[in-house]
Amino acid sequence: MALHPGGANGEPPLKKHKPSPSPSHGPGAASADPATIQRQRQALPVYRLQARLTRELTSRPTLILIGETGSGKTTQVPQFCHQAGLTKTGLVGVTQPRRVAAMSLAQRVADEMACTVGQKVGYSVRFEDCTSTQTKIKYMTDGMLLREAISDHLLRRYSTIILDEAHERTVHTDVLFGIVKKVQKIRRAKNLPELKIVVMSATMDVDHFSRYFGGAPVVYLQGRQFPVQVYYAKQPQEDPVFSSLVSVTQLHQTAPANQDVLVFLTGQEEIESMVKNLRDVGKDLPGCPRLKVVPLYASLPVQQQMEVFRETPPGQRKVIVSTNVAETSVTLPNIKFVVDSGMVKARHHQPGTGLEMLRVQKISQAQAWQRTGRAGRQSAGACYRVYTRAEFDAMSRDTVPEIQRCSLASVTLQLLTIGVKDVRNFDFLDRPDAGAIDGALRELQLLGAVTSAEQPELTPLGRRMASFPLDPKFARAILASKDHGCTEEVVTIIALLSADIILLTPPSNREAALAARQKFVAPEGDMMTLLNVFRGYRKVQKNKEWCRENYLHERHLAHAAEIRRQLLQLCAQAQLTVGSSGQNTEPVRRSLAAGLFPCAAQLTRDGHHVTVGTNQKVHIHPSSTLFMTRPACVIFTELVQTSKKYMRGVCLVDPDWLLDAAPEYFRTHRLHVES
Ligand code: CDP
Ligand code: MG
Repeated sequence: MALHPGGANGEPPLKKHKPSPSPSHGPGAASADPATIQRQRQALPVYRLQARLTRELTSRPTLILIGETGSGKTTQVPQFCHQAGLTKTGLVGVTQPRRVAAMSLAQRVADEMACTVGQKVGYSVRFEDCTSTQTKIKYMTDGMLLREAISDHLLRRYSTIILDEAHERTVHTDVLFGIVKKVQKIRRAKNLPELKIVVMSATMDVDHFSRYFGGAPVVYLQGRQFPVQVYYAKQPQEDPVFSSLVSVTQLHQTAPANQDVLVFLTGQEEIESMVKNLRDVGKDLPGCPRLKVVPLYASLPVQQQMEVFRETPPGQRKVIVSTNVAETSVTLPNIKFVVDSGMVKARHHQPGTGLEMLRVQKISQAQAWQRTGRAGRQSAGACYRVYTRAEFDAMSRDTVPEIQRCSLASVTLQLLTIGVKDVRNFDFLDRPDAGAIDGALRELQLLGAVTSAEQPELTPLGRRMASFPLDPKFARAILASKDHGCTEEVVTIIALLSADIILLTPPSNREAALAARQKFVAPEGDMMTLLNVFRGYRKVQKNKEWCRENYLHERHLAHAAEIRRQLLQLCAQAQLTVGSSGQNTEPVRRSLAAGLFPCAAQLTRDGHHVTVGTNQKVHIHPSSTLFMTRPACVIFTELVQTSKKYMRGVCLVDPDWLLDAAPEYFRTHRLHVES
């Protein structure tokens, strides 16, 4: 069960701060010279359609816009809205699935409008609000807008909502479709200013969207797309990562310099190891262009992400090894070849078990074509599919929207808080499985957030849980920590879990990193280890050098410290006294168990673990500090499926605490308390 506190919800409009230099990416980012910027803008395909778009935007309530990545939708359309006068009656809000995108786009558009981020153009992401009273165009994560709807049901601050990257079909965007549609209708009925809705997408089932919005007009942007030759593997490949490596190596040996390659793999670990292998291979190939290999994935530090946009010097070749992030959400120049492993890592909810996990799986045909298209942006290209034609034919046609494959507890709680009483009959664009909604309601009931799963009414506890921009399980743990007098520790741990990866284990310095980590390792497991890391970090007053020596991600630690600060502020608003249990970890683990009890596992006589209640065989992840031990009973933050099902973020608990947390649940689910 993935307890991504970060990915779970939107973000509260908390902190107002001075604009920080935010990451800006894209080829144009390097030059902030106004004349160049204007030239670049005018060369974008969307620019030619400004007149038509302005006409549609002003005359129609809803508009759907389709155009390839890089055609200028995200940066230009909000400005068109502004120029068309739509910001006179309210903000133009533009949603993005990723926080980095929201921040970097705001930066780019602020450059284009010759202002500082936070003035006319701002952004709002979880735990960071960079807007002001002057703000007209606001880039934000989809989760953030959903969260705003809690306090402003009719989105009165907005004249226009642009749901961008709609093809990604994230849970939050999917829920927002229903919300904005409803708000538009209510505002019309109440004679309030109209809410304009713009849906923008790189690829999608247009009819589906248009029908959903009552036959809304669709505008197509003609992007440049050159032909791409597709090659398939002759036989099924056992190891797609290795086969991808072979393909890139062959390409590198045959293709002229400055023809760059984009490789699609699944996640950070494979990507980093592929990058290392390619660099090694590149060194030993005589007569080939110099090889520059760069990774690209969402949690990569922004500075390193910028590397992919840097122009390849003459006589060299760049290979970008990426997750599905490069399918649509970034504009990569100069890609001649795509190597597609055919795999993707996706979040999955297992109906019936209530467990959610990350799993590597085959992509859909739609994704395969999207990846292929990346090779034909500037000239004709080629795509090497590391799978056979028959395997391609067997792939599902479309990607299953996230809402149909992830846990809905968080979103259900939000819908209830927004005032959507009948979640089961909410106007979803694609309805999730009824069982998934029931499961979410049951979980919320167990957590004490709703009165019953059948006729859910939000409880006062549920309302308080919803005030934290966290997965309900984490919110519950924070609220429980009050009774155990350890809110300080629980908030710190949840902040650390909400930030990106803190403990670094670079393949080249693995031993040294593990040795440095020893001093933080807690016998109670990963969550307490993280707490020790944070305490050390505070003791040295956030010293950067200390972080480097200890293989800790300094920027992510700093981010965690900021999240912690804001969570503590929310605790104060919720009148939660912040106590500390000092060195005693028991109250902390008790509190965590009070929220995370649905993600618990016990040791069986055979020496492996099974999840409590759902009875799945699971293992402790090798990266866990408890990997070599056999704890009798644990809670965990995430399940990851590779060759086996692995628990990550593991914490030792006492089965009695689970019983205390949810007696009703554990009465019906087997939990053996050893005597
Ligand atoms: O949304 P769409 O993919 O259609 O295009 P866009 O994001 O508006 O990007 C249009 C162009 O703006 C890109 O090709 C980049 O040259 C530039 N851009 C940038 O320089 N920095 C960004 N953060 C985003 C876009
Ligand atoms: Mg875009």
